Amino acid sequence: MQRKMILAMDLDGCIGKNDGLPWRLRADMLRFKRLTVGEGNNAVLMGRTTWESLPEAYRPLGERLNIIVTRNEDYVIEGADACLSIESGLSVAEGNKSDICWIIGGANVYEQCRDIVDEIHLTMVETNQSGDVRVGLFSENDWEHEVVETVPADDKNEHETTYMILRRRS
Ligand SMILES: NC(=O)c1ccc[n+]([C@@H]2O[C@H](COP(=O)([O-])OP(=O)(O)OC[C@H]3O[C@@H](n4cnc5c(N)ncnc54)[C@H](OP(=O)(O)O)[C@@H]3O)[C@@H](O)[C@H]2O)c1
Repeated sequence: MQRKMILAMDLDGCIGKNDGLPWRLRADMLRFKRLTVGEGNNAVLMGRTTWESLPEAYRPLGERLNIIVTRNEDYVIEGADACLSIESGLSVAEGNKSDICWIIGGANVYEQCRDIVDEIHLTMVETNQSGDVRVGLFSENDWEHEVVETVPADDKNEHETTYMILRRRS
């Protein structure tokens, strides 16, 4: 099973605001869905806060095994697996024979998973100081950056974005 991370951040590393996303980026949402659904046999692993930030109509995320990490043993979720650690979440994905386990946030989970993924699908949002939740930037020393495309701002995409794939330097 491959382990990959997917996130959108601004130039300061901001990824979230008021327990939600700081922006409306239609192209990024569509790419997120296309990549994480993949061939239809993938898992998404997220922190409890990110799970609760999803609109009820969108959770669990369709066509993907949804794994939520929480330290609360009593947390009950319909349509998703609650796990008490990231390791046990990854084991559930492995046990399910997922092709890819996508780490989908938020900041707390991203920071803990940096060292266990080999590929990061990063949408760089061309703006600053968007929110109140940040992650550390990804150094060129550790990660090789392949720029895939730039999407201009328009009425469905609040900011210009640059989508890139980061691969760990060996
Ligand atoms: N821009 C993006 O791409 C993107 C993507 C995803 C999320 N976000 C944003 O990020 C923000 C949320 O991020 P966040 O850092 O506050 O929260 P988070 O990472 O989504 O969730 C944190 C929670 O996950 C659980 N957790 C974390 N590590 C764990 C571990 N090792 N074992 C068991 N449980 C663990 C804990 O839940 P309990 O407290 O229940 O124990 C913890 O409080 C929101 O604003 C969201 O919209 C942005």
